[in-house]
Amino acid sequence: MKFYFFTLSALFFLTTSCVEKTESFTRETIVLKKDWRFSKGSHPDAIHKSFDDSQWEKVNIPHDWAIYGPFNKEIDKQEVAIAQNNETTATEKTGRTGALPYIGEAWYRNEFTLPNLNKNKKILIQFDGAMSEPEVFINGEKVGEWKYGYAYFYFDITEYVHKENNTISVKINNREKSSRWYPGAGLYRNVHLIVKEKESIAHWGTFITTPLITKEEAKINIKTKVNGEQIKLVTKIYDADGIEIARQEATQMFSNEFDQNISVSDPNLWSPDSPYLYTAKIQLYANNELKDETTSRFGIRSIDFSAENGFRLNGKKTKFKGVCLHHDLGPLGAAVNKSALRRQLRILKDLGVNAIRSSHNMPSIEQLELCNEMGFLFLAESFDEWKVPKVKNGYNLYFDDYAEKDIVNLVHATRNHPSIVMWSSGNEVPDQWGNEGVKRAKWLQDIFHREDPTRPVTVGMDQVEAVMQNGFGAIMDIPGLNYRVHLYEDAYKKFPQGFILGSETASTVSSRGIYKFPVEKASMKQYEDFQSSSYDMEYCSWSNLPDEDFILQDDKDWVLGEFVWTGFDYLGEPTPYDEAWPSRSSYFGISDLAGLPKDRYYLYRSRWNTKDETLHILPHWNWEGREGETTPVFVYTSYDQAELFVNGKSQGIRKKTKNGTPQERYRLMWMDVKYEPGTLKVVALDEAGNPVAEKVVKTAGKPHQLALRPETMSLKANGEDLMFVEVSVVDKNGIPCPTAQHQLNFEVTGKGSFRAVCNGNPTSLELFHLPSMKLFNGKLVVLIQSSEEVGAITLKVTGENLLSQSVTINSIQE
Ligand code: GAL
Repeated sequence: MKFYFFTLSALFFLTTSCVEKTESFTRETIVLKKDWRFSKGSHPDAIHKSFDDSQWEKVNIPHDWAIYGPFNKEIDKQEVAIAQNNETTATEKTGRTGALPYIGEAWYRNEFTLPNLNKNKKILIQFDGAMSEPEVFINGEKVGEWKYGYAYFYFDITEYVHKENNTISVKINNREKSSRWYPGAGLYRNVHLIVKEKESIAHWGTFITTPLITKEEAKINIKTKVNGEQIKLVTKIYDADGIEIARQEATQMFSNEFDQNISVSDPNLWSPDSPYLYTAKIQLYANNELKDETTSRFGIRSIDFSAENGFRLNGKKTKFKGVCLHHDLGPLGAAVNKSALRRQLRILKDLGVNAIRSSHNMPSIEQLELCNEMGFLFLAESFDEWKVPKVKNGYNLYFDDYAEKDIVNLVHATRNHPSIVMWSSGNEVPDQWGNEGVKRAKWLQDIFHREDPTRPVTVGMDQVEAVMQNGFGAIMDIPGLNYRVHLYEDAYKKFPQGFILGSETASTVSSRGIYKFPVEKASMKQYEDFQSSSYDMEYCSWSNLPDEDFILQDDKDWVLGEFVWTGFDYLGEPTPYDEAWPSRSSYFGISDLAGLPKDRYYLYRSRWNTKDETLHILPHWNWEGREGETTPVFVYTSYDQAELFVNGKSQGIRKKTKNGTPQERYRLMWMDVKYEPGTLKVVALDEAGNPVAEKVVKTAGKPHQLALRPETMSLKANGEDLMFVEVSVVDKNGIPCPTAQHQLNFEVTGKGSFRAVCNGNPTSLELFHLPSMKLFNGKLVVLIQSSEEVGAITLKVTGENLLSQSVTINSIQE
């Protein structure tokens, strides 16, 4: 079986996250960010223009009302058996959706003017997502509603607006038991007003593909849907430097669509290593008058999937080194923020990740734009549920009425992003059992194919035995297996496609900086402190340790790659502590909720980042009270062998081997080391046994002073940019103190403000937006937000019995 999916690139003409208004003389986009009024509760009168909202809270959007807490175990407490986790008896689950107050009704109101309005204008309002069940009213009249909180949608509001004094009211409603993780609450993504001519390019009406690529030239196919008659299109292609390299005029329409083929010579191909982007500017003329203009960034690239070659990007076999990501941004909640997303991707680049799965819903547009620019492949998912519920008030309530609309909007809004190489119509849907589910799988896949013939569709399947029997797995373009490493071989033989994707893998759990003894492999292991060990030997009962996936990835040519659960910790789903208050966020992340790497980060980095050396020792070496006790030492490294020394005494050489446990193939492990304070040193050896690199970990003395490490030294003065400052404690010799748990206080002065803080502790009930937090194992991260003024911003951090520390950064013009 052989698919060829040649593609394309990026529309998304107008919006930017910071600019509020984009104007050309034909079209204007206003991002409604500021001066919203917000109130929780039921306010049916708030639809009226005359409603007095002056006492409501003033907020900017993107806004997540629930992230400000407080955490409360009663919120969305669920007495359930999680069938998906093989549970058969119902128990009380407290932190499942993050224990943050997302449930209930709330209202947002704002005002806007449309000075350029006249009878030839068409006005649209677009939501990139609203959590959830949004109802939209303009000047007292309902213009429309949607249901799914992650869906993009828009309404034509031409009939409802005036030049002056327009009022918009949005009602939001979140039901209890509607999610398996923290969903966030409110207008957590952007809202755009689009003002254009009646004769114009249709909304999301451009589809750019690159169906033919040779070294000498690429054929760019641009289909553009338009409204109006007597129309001419002028399409110009620009290279990454903004130089016009091709232009074509078209007058022939097929129905309401132009279908242009434009040649680009010597194309620069888009790939994760070289994310080269072109721009298409499309101008629409009616009766020779310019009526509309959009610009779309796109990439030239080809994708194909086949039994012979697996997945190929631009003809080159490429395995997915992927991570699954939830949409929340830790301490920022669900409120989308481009600099926080950029930081996540920077961390993932260093890790060597080349692909992201937006589990289990539509990604933000901002995340896709960054993936195009920074070079990540993308698996864009849509649903965690179809018609059969996982949670009582989940997507099953909307499936019949909305599934098709939601997919159509997903595809239309994002199909020009070169990063997207695959769609997913679902994750572990219970519909995997039974014939109805098979029909649904085909129906959804057909919708994707109809809207986008260039990309394949997958489903993350966990009921592997069932889908092997009932045909569900056989009809998928890409059979995706969630876990079940023991069934890969069988599924590969039974399914017709000739390849298997690890659509979700590992689900190993750990807490940053926590190590438990004795060190042993264990499933669903729990401890009294509700933490999991960073020796990376603990996993969920339905899953496995990373090394077992590595073997499949390395030894089976027909495995397309993997998407690890998860790149970062996220709010909610605190397995294996689903029943243990105050656990309220996940333990699955390769990095913690603050974005700080756990040890597991280096295990993945040692195989995924093929450009840089990895040589990482664990655990830390501050074990007062464990003197003389067995304290295993692991080294995650890109080298094959190394020698370990404790205070200069050799502990022997370890070499990665295929003739042992999966862990012995990918980790260097010294299981019998006896703890003594001092210096732990690892010396990496080349094949001939010569030392090539070394790393040292020392026992720290008493905590002495704070150390601040901003990720960069400047911020953009746009009121939204964020600076992440890592705060740690060191002893008087500058050695990091890995067990420090001091309470710290933060003060930001100058042209910015304190935004949030996070220590990555999944059991902490301290609130992210308050300027005080305990260190978790010696570290935390402070987020500073820019204002719209340029100038210096100073962060001062203090803590009892510690020398305080300040750092000054500059906020500069964009
Ligand atoms: C999977 C599921 C994910 C998450 C994960 C935890 O089965 O698809 O959403 O729940 O398990 O291990």
